[in-house]
Amino acid sequence: MQRLLYPLAVSVLAVAVQAQDTPEKLAADAGCGACHHAEEPRMGPSWQAIAERYKDQEGAAAELQEKMRTVSKGAWGEAPMPPVTPDQLTDDQLSSVIDWILNR
Ligand code: HEC
Repeated sequence: MQRLLYPLAVSVLAVAVQAQDTPEKLAADAGCGACHHAEEPRMGPSWQAIAERYKDQEGAAAELQEKMRTVSKGAWGEAPMPPVTPDQLTDDQLSSVIDWILNR
């Protein structure tokens, strides 16, 4: 029985993962692109610059996630970044977007 169930569980999981939006789409839908571009600075730093700044910092993803829920200010310049609300992105979605930014 277990032999049968395991592949079944794996394929159900695979379908569930595919059905989720990609982090790129989540970020686009949440409006991050209004202030962030992949390579060029806009009102906010580019995803590239963020990835470079934090690439060797342990715990950066968790730290950024916490910051995104409040106001981020002074890390890059004078312009503050408004908080990302759970309506825009759930914790899991925000976490996948941050991983996507940091691992480019
Ligand atoms: C209204 C403009 C605006 C929007 C919309 C916006 N950002 Fe930002 N973001 C900024 C600014 C400005 C900064 C720099 C803040 C600072 O200097 O601390 C920033 C910084 C960041 C940082 C780096 C923070 C740090 O402390 O180094 C991350 C990560 C980030 N944004 C992710 C996102 C994500 C994900 C979204 C979409 C859910 C988003 N931003 C939407 C303006 C924006």
